[in-house]
Amino acid sequence: MTDNVDMKEKLLEEVGHVSYKALNYAKTLVKPGALVKEVAIAAEKYLNDQGYAPAFPINLSINNEAAHYTPSFDDERIFTETDIVKVDFGAYKDGISGDCAITIDLSGKNGKLIDAANYALDAALSKLRAGITSSEIGREINTVLLKYGVKPIRNLGGHGLDIDNLHSGFFIPNYDDGSVDVLEEGMVISIEPFATNGKGMVADSDRCEIYSYVETVQPRLNSSRALIKNIEEHFSSTPFAVRWLANGIDSHFNIYSGINELVKLGAIEAHPILLEIGNGMVSQSEVTVLVEANGCKLLTK
Ligand code: CO
Repeated sequence: MTDNVDMKEKLLEEVGHVSYKALNYAKTLVKPGALVKEVAIAAEKYLNDQGYAPAFPINLSINNEAAHYTPSFDDERIFTETDIVKVDFGAYKDGISGDCAITIDLSGKNGKLIDAANYALDAALSKLRAGITSSEIGREINTVLLKYGVKPIRNLGGHGLDIDNLHSGFFIPNYDDGSVDVLEEGMVISIEPFATNGKGMVADSDRCEIYSYVETVQPRLNSSRALIKNIEEHFSSTPFAVRWLANGIDSHFNIYSGINELVKLGAIEAHPILLEIGNGMVSQSEVTVLVEANGCKLLTK
């Protein structure tokens, strides 16, 4: 191995380990009665305090929300004792991102749905090595989920992670989609089974709190000009939360009118909250790994 490859692997392990620690810290905060926004702020601060940025705003998607729910700056939602909470989080440093998730069942009544995603992830990891196709992994995941009487979410899945790119084009489905994309040694990928008792698909909702930078433009509104400058300066490499931009902005209208103008101009991309189309409950389990010749190395541990 060259020194460069060695250094990158060290950083992957370091960022993966911090991601896992931050996920577990967030897990301790998710309780009935807790304010979701306070959990998000504390978990993201945990990373900042250790010299890392969040790789993306913490996702705390609840029940039929499969992904991309992070609290708004004026969010008053609290966790309830019937919630199924997906905590999806990761650290970022020097271009490297970690990405991992667990599901917390605050009711204690959805064990099967949560076990299904966990065991599907284990099964996928046991098969994972260079040379396998992404659809073979998907088939492994689907087989376990069906055994538990639940379905995969067919339009969500694992993904490649590149430098400054949380979602490279490489996709790993949660069922056999017939893809012949081959995993190669040295690839960094996430595996993330999503299980549901609904229809097995997600669709965009009309709520959006997570965006990513695309390019700098010249907006008409003064407030949008200040916003894109702030985004370019601080969040050009990682997705960001509207909450992170709200410093000093007191009105819901002011911030979202700027955000909406930037989306229309193509300066930023929206990542809306994804809802299960049959209103099913959703669980998720995710790790980031390094693909090796004869297996894989777990990074988020
Ligand atoms: Co992911």
